[in-house]
Amino acid sequence: MTKAGITLADIAGNHCEFHYYARKKDNHLKIALTVKSEDGNLIEEVDLYSAEGYKVAADLWLRASCHQRVMYEPTWMGIPIIQYPTDMVMMQELIWKIRPDYIIETGVAHGGSCVLHASILELIGKGQVIGIDVEIRKYNETAIKNHPMAKRIHLIEGSSIDPEVIKQVRHIARPGAKCLVVLDSNHSYQHVKKEIELYQQFVGIDCYMVVMDGAQEWAATLPNGKPEWAEDNPLRAIREFVTASEGEWVVDEHYSRMKITSSPMGFLKRRDMSI
Ligand SMILES: C[S@@+](CC[C@H](N)C(=O)[O-])C[C@H]1O[C@@H](n2cnc3c(N)ncnc32)[C@H](O)[C@@H]1O
Repeated sequence: MTKAGITLADIAGNHCEFHYYARKKDNHLKIALTVKSEDGNLIEEVDLYSAEGYKVAADLWLRASCHQRVMYEPTWMGIPIIQYPTDMVMMQELIWKIRPDYIIETGVAHGGSCVLHASILELIGKGQVIGIDVEIRKYNETAIKNHPMAKRIHLIEGSSIDPEVIKQVRHIARPGAKCLVVLDSNHSYQHVKKEIELYQQFVGIDCYMVVMDGAQEWAATLPNGKPEWAEDNPLRAIREFVTASEGEWVVDEHYSRMKITSSPMGFLKRRDMSI
């Protein structure tokens, strides 16, 4: 948010005009973003090199890159992954810090995130990824099963909210095991709300549940966005869950510090309520 309180929602359109200019001064290129109200009055000029300027530029980059489907570009060890590189780096930091026995992950797709997470576990020297997807396509399954990281990946086919799937996860990740949960399957509000409810049981004190793709909220106003996403998104489920937990679950903004993320407020840490 800028000093004038300009948010991504404002940039999205209804409240202001957004311009930028570049001017060379003392051999430096000054770049400023000017924000005007609907009636043309200047609300604020934001220096691109300020913290606010960086945030606005990051928000604009997210909008443009999301429209260009940049998150579908990366691969990890040869397998397509649907993530922004910054989010991949943040997951690597978190896994390295937590050193979990299991990473329970909903939404496998091609398998790129399972392979990324398994490769960090391989460097740590322990741990398994449990990847759950409602449909694991044959060619994706073959690629994952033939991958050097396959020994650290256990796949379950079924809906992430199916009690039978939860039973299978519980059978593998026994009580006492240190688990990191990553939710990246169906991004509707209802589904994510249910997933959070079901998977929080696997996360111990000081461990994390990462709820991905809260960006769907602002993606509602992208050229190809769906208006219903403004309400129907993971971020709404995250906010409600964190508020209702009365301090037991907190958003760890450390993992959003690069500002370029498709998972705003996504890194949820469980706190010890007994102290
Ligand atoms: C965004 S993709 C996952 C991307 C993957 N985590 C990555 O980073 O490369 C979402 C996946 O969720 C799966 N999915 C959709 N509904 C599901 C459900 N109810 N249970 C489990 N998986 C589901 C889809 O089949 C799809 O493969």
